[in-house]
Amino acid sequence: MQKTRKKYFRDQLMAWFAQNHRPLPWKGEKAPYLVWLSEVILQQTRVEQGLPYFERFRQRYPTVQQLAEAPEDEVMKLWEGLGYYSRARNLHAAARHIARKLGGRFPDTYEGIRQLKGVGSYTAAAIASFAFGLPYAVVDGNVFRVLSRFFGMETPIDTTAGKKAFAELAQELLDPAQPGPYNQAIMDFGATQCTPKSPGCSSCPLHSDCTAYREKKVEALPVKSKKAQKRERFFHYLVVRHQGKALLNKRTEKDIWQNLYEFPLLELPRFSRHEADVRNSELWRQLFDGQEAVIHRISRPYQQQLTHQKILASFWEVGLPAEAVLNSGPFLAIDQKKLGEFAFPRVINRYLNEAQLTLF
Ligand code: ADE
Repeated sequence: MQKTRKKYFRDQLMAWFAQNHRPLPWKGEKAPYLVWLSEVILQQTRVEQGLPYFERFRQRYPTVQQLAEAPEDEVMKLWEGLGYYSRARNLHAAARHIARKLGGRFPDTYEGIRQLKGVGSYTAAAIASFAFGLPYAVVDGNVFRVLSRFFGMETPIDTTAGKKAFAELAQELLDPAQPGPYNQAIMDFGATQCTPKSPGCSSCPLHSDCTAYREKKVEALPVKSKKAQKRERFFHYLVVRHQGKALLNKRTEKDIWQNLYEFPLLELPRFSRHEADVRNSELWRQLFDGQEAVIHRISRPYQQQLTHQKILASFWEVGLPAEAVLNSGPFLAIDQKKLGEFAFPRVINRYLNEAQLTLF
């Protein structure tokens, strides 16, 4: 590829950035801890959604030391609603590692940063360039899209060859004199101008040399070799309340929502509203042990879309006669008034918000 085309791309991109950059609190931030915090929050999250979380975390934990000293449940609660909770667990674990093993000093090389829990090559390049001015190009979905369109690259982005080709091109395009601003420019350009759907081609200052625009392939790029597989799961939650208490479970398995709380869960191979399916379960036997439990209400289905799974959840509100003894078994029997203190997945919060008036 000619040098001039790359130079044109870089120059036009930086000119676009000078006119269009979004004023956000982490821009120009050099404190590695805050750069790291913002980048972890922005993984898989839109800027508008991440912004208030960044502010809350920065206020509650102004330094990596303070984050390291926080209890894990508190960090999870502050993360509640943002999704991909492994980010919060890894952030916390890495803060402890920095505080305890690295003498409180944030690593200042790409390799050192890359070794932190939860930091992949994208986030490491972002931190290295923003906080330390190191010449590492970011490569993520935005970058795949922008480069595949402008340079007309049809190599599928979900293959080893594709990833390598895009990473090499991205690294060649990086402006070594200003890696941080260049990386920020391509992120912002991908997020606001060269968007997945209805990109702003007519107002784009790069369109006169954009291969996809010229060849009318904008919507067809980037190319993926396979469709993402989506798994459907059917959660039936037993909302058991008795004598002012509610039962909760802490999710500890290596599965979605690790370390979040939920009601006792019956997962079935299909969605069911038949009482028998729930009453005949091992969970029901374990909880009620032959006692006369009453199903007061079955909620509407609530849906939550995760990256590779779709969760359909319904909530079965169950009560026992006043004199009955509830055997909480492996579950936590918590004061109903304290429900708000626990970090729940989004489906459960949505149910709780709707049910609050009638339930608690
Ligand atoms: N997504 C990930 N990092 C980002 C950043 N620094 N600015 C805007 N969007 C981002």
